[in-house]
Amino acid sequence: MIKVLRYLKQIKSDIILSLVFVVLSQLSSLSLPLLMSLIINNGIANADLQFIKNIGAIMAAISALHVVLSVFNSYYTSKTSAGYGKILREDLFLKVESLSQIDIEKIGTPSLITRCTSDVKVMQDFILMSLRIIISSPIMLIGGTIMAVILNPKLALTILAVFPIIGIIVAIVLKTVIPIFKKRQKMTDEVNRFLRQKLSGIRVIKAFNTINKEDDIFSEKNQRLSFLVLKLQRIMSVLIPVCIVLVVVALDTIIFIATKNIDTLSDPVKIQNTVGDLQAFVIYMIMIVAAVTMSAAMFVIVPRANISAKRIKEILELESQIKDPEVAKDIDNSQKGKVEFENVSFSYEDGENNVLSNISFVAEIGKTTAIIGSTGSGKTTVANLLCRFCDVKEGRVLFGGVDVRELKQKELLSKISYIPQKPVLFSGSIRENLLYGDENASEEKLKKALDISQSSEFVFALENGMESFISQNGTNLSGGQKQRLSIARALVKDADVYIFDDSFSALDFKTDSLLRKALKENLSATVIIVAQRVGTIMNADKIIVLENGKIVGMGKHAQLMEDCAVYREIALSQLSSKEVLQ
Ligand code: GTP
Ligand code: MG
Repeated sequence: MIKVLRYLKQIKSDIILSLVFVVLSQLSSLSLPLLMSLIINNGIANADLQFIKNIGAIMAAISALHVVLSVFNSYYTSKTSAGYGKILREDLFLKVESLSQIDIEKIGTPSLITRCTSDVKVMQDFILMSLRIIISSPIMLIGGTIMAVILNPKLALTILAVFPIIGIIVAIVLKTVIPIFKKRQKMTDEVNRFLRQKLSGIRVIKAFNTINKEDDIFSEKNQRLSFLVLKLQRIMSVLIPVCIVLVVVALDTIIFIATKNIDTLSDPVKIQNTVGDLQAFVIYMIMIVAAVTMSAAMFVIVPRANISAKRIKEILELESQIKDPEVAKDIDNSQKGKVEFENVSFSYEDGENNVLSNISFVAEIGKTTAIIGSTGSGKTTVANLLCRFCDVKEGRVLFGGVDVRELKQKELLSKISYIPQKPVLFSGSIRENLLYGDENASEEKLKKALDISQSSEFVFALENGMESFISQNGTNLSGGQKQRLSIARALVKDADVYIFDDSFSALDFKTDSLLRKALKENLSATVIIVAQRVGTIMNADKIIVLENGKIVGMGKHAQLMEDCAVYREIALSQLSSKEVLQ
């Protein structure tokens, strides 16, 4: 909890102001019942009108002050909690951004989202309630008790008797509530995970007609979550009334003790005094009741915040597996754009076998290197290792003559333009998406990127051209349009190496070949093309054939046709005998 709360340091002045106003507004309210009893005891009992007027005026002034202080109190406590939430969310977002793909997969995207949103909200509420309740309850409780003791020590004893009983009830509730809170947060994560996965696959669910089945699974999870919420509410709905009943019993006892001897009193002034004290007493008791009830709410908020703080801390403390070196090297300028894999082996953390074994190749500067192989042969993994989204298990990946682990990640990624296998577009205009590649790119550069990627035709056929809106993940575009736009975005970026991971798979043959031709004419950088279609890569300067994570052939098309059985098999299955001989 402490680690997550240390952000409060950044909003110290707001916290101090909140505290000052909370304390002042509570103190001002504490004085009112006492003044009221003074009016009854001294003013009314002695029929002293002037005294009543004077004290009445003081009471009115204090009440007005109380209102003003309360407004400031609300303002600063809200400002503090909103400010805290903002700082915490910002830091969490920065942290999540710095994590590697593997780290993110470990916690899971839905859980990350819940932690950055609802857990932060819990912490925000906790700060707000703490400032308002944790500070004001003790003041009301202790202040009310002290005032009651000053007023009449004998009567005040009845109040003290209630405290230990409340303590016992709270201890019992805490023991039962905390484990349920933990379960509830976990269940919320699970419901979120389920919803996210199923909503993004809604078309598949509909196509396979499995909506009823998914409904049943969701109902079951939802039921479990609402059961936990209900259970918590049930416990809380018992706690608060029990506390109130206890205090009301104490209140009755006070009135009973105070009025027990009233009929034996003959002096009207004494009777008035009893009434005045009793009046003030009842108000102090009500204050104490309010303080106790609010504290009971704290016993829910604190454990809940504790669980959320732990979940947030888990992210803040997560060490990214991919770290920058302490002393980073610079790329060797004479080898700019050269990529070299040296005996690289790799396996995913959760997998047992090597996904890549002993991979060695060089992608020459300014040349096109292609990687081909059946699905699951490790092509995307090669691209991931080059971008250092994960680290090799054995061997080295050299970029510009330097091991990628010795380069700053930012430096490395600024030199690579990567088109992932699954094109990802963000909601916004086409222009905004293109500018992702380089925010300062000129209009001319954007148009050229659209031209090369064969997107101009369909983009400018749209009513708003480059200003047309793309919905999240490009759902309002076809697969091939998405691929072309993500290629255009990558081309807007000036890089030493361009990696196309199966980026032509959704294009028809004609567009595919026009695009490759335009790329050849316009790109002088190193190009790495991952593909499953021989047609896409047969003109590459070097073709690497992967099978089961091993290189089984390397060279040009004609040579591979002769000496690589795997390549020959792929080529013959896809091309006509005339095309093969090209
Ligand atoms: P296609 O894109 O289908 O053509 O395959 P690819 O050649 O790009 O294969 P990729 O490099 O994606 O995967 C190679 C192997 O690694 C496959 O056997 C996958 O099952 C495995 N793999 C890929 N990603 C992960 C991962 O995140 N975790 C684990 N454990 N295995 C993975
Ligand atoms: Mg792949």
